This record gives sequence, C-alpha cells and structure tokens, in this order.
Amino acid sequence: MNSAASPASPATVELSAAPGRSEAAERAAQLFEESFGYEPDGVWSAPGRVNIIGEHVDYQDGFCLPMAISHRCFAAAARTPTDRLRVRSAQDETVLDIDARTLTPEAVTGWPAYVAGVLWALRSRISGASTRGMDIMIDGQVPLGAGLSSSAALECASAEAIEALLTLSTEPLDRVRAAITAETDFAGASTGGLDQSASVLSREGHALFLDCRDFSTRPVPWDLASQGLALLITDTRAEHSHVDGEYTARRADSERAAEALGVPTLRDAEAADPAALQTLLSRIGDEVVRRRAHHVITEIQRVKDFDALLAAGSVREHVAELGALLNASHDSLREDYEVTVPHLDVAVDAARAAGAHGARMTGGGFGGSTIALVEADQAEQVASAISTAFAEQGFEAPVFFLALPSEGAGQDR
Ligand code: GLA
Repeated sequence: MNSAASPASPATVELSAAPGRSEAAERAAQLFEESFGYEPDGVWSAPGRVNIIGEHVDYQDGFCLPMAISHRCFAAAARTPTDRLRVRSAQDETVLDIDARTLTPEAVTGWPAYVAGVLWALRSRISGASTRGMDIMIDGQVPLGAGLSSSAALECASAEAIEALLTLSTEPLDRVRAAITAETDFAGASTGGLDQSASVLSREGHALFLDCRDFSTRPVPWDLASQGLALLITDTRAEHSHVDGEYTARRADSERAAEALGVPTLRDAEAADPAALQTLLSRIGDEVVRRRAHHVITEIQRVKDFDALLAAGSVREHVAELGALLNASHDSLREDYEVTVPHLDVAVDAARAAGAHGARMTGGGFGGSTIALVEADQAEQVASAISTAFAEQGFEAPVFFLALPSEGAGQDR
C-alpha cells in the first residue's frame, strides 16, 4: 500500500463534464480584461483529444482514429501596437514578456513555449507584418498530465488566435503544422502529429480518420449516445515518469525496424496474414525491435479494420468486434510496445471485468488515461469498478469523464 494515496470510495464516482463552451469563453475574456486592463479582440479555443485506436503509429505514417473531447483550452487575445509578446495563464503564475521579433527556442521555457513556438513557427508567413505584438490570456480546461493532449490544445488555441490577429489566412492544416513545429522544434518535445490534427480538424459528433502520411482526414460518424453507448475516460492520475525518453526510444526502435525491413516506414510493411507477418518479422534480428514492429504493423491493420466496421454499420451493430479491437490494441501496447504501466493495466482489466465491450490506454502511455466502450447505463458501474480496483491497489482515486465527440479548434467570440 502506498500510504500517500487516498483510496477511492466507489460511492463517490462522478462523471464530470467540461464547463460549457460559451461560458468558458466569456470567462477567458474577463480574465484577459482583469489581467491586461482592456478588452480582448477575440477568444479562440481548441480541444483536448482521446485516440480511439491507432496508438504509436503516427510517426510511422500510420492511421489513427482520434476524437476531440469537450474539455478545451481558451486563448483570449488582442493585437498591440508593439513588438512584445505577452502571455499569461489562469492556471499558472509564469508570465512571458518577450520581443516577438527575436524569438528563439532557447529564450522561452515551460508552458509559454507552446504559445511562443506557434508564433515562431509561423514566422515565414509574417515576415512582412509591421508589428507582431500581442497579449494572450490562456485559460485551460484540459486536465494536465492526463494524456488528453492539454499541450496540443494550448498550441492549437494559440494558433487560431495568432492566425486571426495577424490575418494570415492559413488553412487548418497549416495551423496543425505550425502547432507540430512549435512542439517539436521550439518546445523540444517529440510528437507525431496525432494530437494537433485531432485538436484542429475534429468535427462534433464524429471521430477523425487520420492518415499520418499526408495528414489527410475524413470525419467518421461516432454518435454513441443515440445508440445507448458511451466512451468512458479514466484519468488514472499515474505520474508520468521518463515519458520523453521512453517515447524517443520507441520511435527509434520503430525506425530501426523499418530500416531492417528495407521500407521507408512501417506503414509500407504490409503482410497478407499472420503467417506472412511472422515471415516478414523474422528478418528483424533484434527481438525487442521485432516486437515493436509487430505492434505498429498490427495496430495500423486494427485501425483499418475498425474503420471498415464503422463504414459497414453502426457502432451498436459491431460493438463486440469493435470492443475486441480496442482490447487487442491495449494488449499489443502492453506486451509488444511496453508503454503501459500498472495504473493503465488495472483500469483496463477492471473495465473489462465490469462488462465494458472493450478498453485500452489512450495517448502515449507511461501514465495518463484509458478509454472503455460501455453501455451508457453501465458507465457509472464500470467507473465504480475501476475506483474499487484502484483503492485495492492503494492507487490515488482516478477521475472519470465521458468522451463527447466535440468540434475542433475555432473562434468563440
Ligand atoms: C503522444 C504523441 C502523439 C502519438 C501518441 C501515441 O500523444 O504526442 O504524437 O505518438 O503519443 O499514439
């Protein structure tokens, strides 16, 4: 037992929803005014995400099926007749006040790097602008460290605000790319583009079929509520440790695997059936690298299978097969890719035992959240079972949300 943990009580399970979007945008505008002393030009926001299936495949040109959640990050902002970029947040006392013309990755650290990095990433487009001064107030709802892409929401809300303030007329995909550049080249964190694509390009009521080779997308109907189903998110509250190093290591393993197979990316390493896959994989000498490749190749196939089932009928009609694919995804991430931790496995096992159609970790792993596809009227019961399992393990109480497929980034007011 970990004595520092506060065991969960199964009776206190609450399925919390994010505060309404228009009220939250209003609040962000007020916070801006209180902080900067004048009214913002507008408020923009971008959501967090869950990935339904297609994990650790984006950086190998694979397919993913994420959806935006109702928790968003808001950016109230105004252009100023200066060259200063001033950024503040309702959640943190750190402030940024820097000459926007001389931004360099070394000059900004911590969360403001995700905002400044977007301006920096868009620099070639704004080279002609006379000034680029702006004030930005951030108000985030996406839980931090929960694997629900709070940083992508921050970048993408910033991208919407900055693009509008500087009238850059970018396409949504340009903003996705600016957000990715901000994270990888400015903030120095690895990412494969899944999170930013989901945050900008998702549509309400839909999941997003994403081809990570060219970032082309297609909305896929994902209306669980009308079918009596729900996607339960469990924020396991597991501490992320060594996340960046492990993520980089997995990427490196998958690159080694592609090289051993003589293909540009593992997306190109298709096998007709499991026997053909085993023959293909036998060309990889290193046992660990071989398992990493097995995950990526089979996960890409699972996304295609999942998508085909959704094209062939409703979630309800195929709920057992869809659930089985979610389960297979988690098992592969646990055994072959080794990115799960006990909190994730306990949440998934408890959800399955309590009657979920399928359950898996979502996001990068090593902590963060799980999802479970459940009957809507059993969501609380499944959540309660997870809480009980956590209490038995001496884990801190988890937090539950329902994943409601929400609209991607945009202007609020
Ligand atoms: C993190 C990264 C994404 C993706 C996932 C795993 O969320 O930011 O780009 O690689 O992990 O699917």
